[in-house]
Amino acid sequence: MGSAMRALPKEMLPVAGTPVIRHVVEELAAVGICQATIVISEGKESIREYFEGTPVPGVAVTFAYQPEPLGLGHAVVCGRGVIGDEPFMVLLGDTIIEADTPATRQLLDVYASTPQASVLLEDVPRDQVGRYGIASGSAIADGVIQVHSLVEKPTPEDAASTLAIAGRYIFPPAIFECLGRITPGVGGELQLTDAMRLLLADEPMLGVRLKGQRYDVGTEEAFIEANVAFAGETGATADDLRAQLRQRLAEM
Ligand code: G1P
Repeated sequence: MGSAMRALPKEMLPVAGTPVIRHVVEELAAVGICQATIVISEGKESIREYFEGTPVPGVAVTFAYQPEPLGLGHAVVCGRGVIGDEPFMVLLGDTIIEADTPATRQLLDVYASTPQASVLLEDVPRDQVGRYGIASGSAIADGVIQVHSLVEKPTPEDAASTLAIAGRYIFPPAIFECLGRITPGVGGELQLTDAMRLLLADEPMLGVRLKGQRYDVGTEEAFIEANVAFAGETGATADDLRAQLRQRLAEM
């Protein structure tokens, strides 16, 4: 989203009048998680200013800085300060999930019965696997797999499955030791998926299939779709929207 992204971090783009990152923090509030650290980098100060002015009730938000854009794995390391020696969740700040049961709750429910590292997964078309971390494994329950392999952004030919990492994770603190061992991977970045593969060598990991719809607002299409999906939150009625969208689409 070229020029808009330079003016405004994508996490601050409004979906139905609410910044994407607020939707993500509200997902935490909905499941009773009361502490969050948002890792921000240069140019994303507006995120901190926004939450200082309009906090999410029930969630204490602190901030950590990523001094250089070295990748998602590095961002997680930057947020370590407040985590201590306990399991924690990672939520990608540019990904909104629409679901009857919050996506975070879906992961936590599986974790409650089987406390293992867990990752939310979503089936994607094979020609899109190169955009994602891809997990494969064997089904152990309805919608739950025991993960066997993880690869960041494989080619469609090499991908062992079409199950994409969907931007929500639960990790034991041991992930930090794994993050300390990775070297730059795809795109020259320190990839969280690579650290997860190291963790998987030491302990089991679950994949939980998302029941819901994920929108990565870093893509223009998903941004528009998310705004339509969440339009009800603005007070717009289905009739208003239907008429507007019909007319617009007819003109395209
Ligand atoms: C990141 C992760 C990837 C995951 C994706 C979900 O990739 O590295 O494993 O599937 O988010 O959106 P990015 O979108 O930062 O390239």
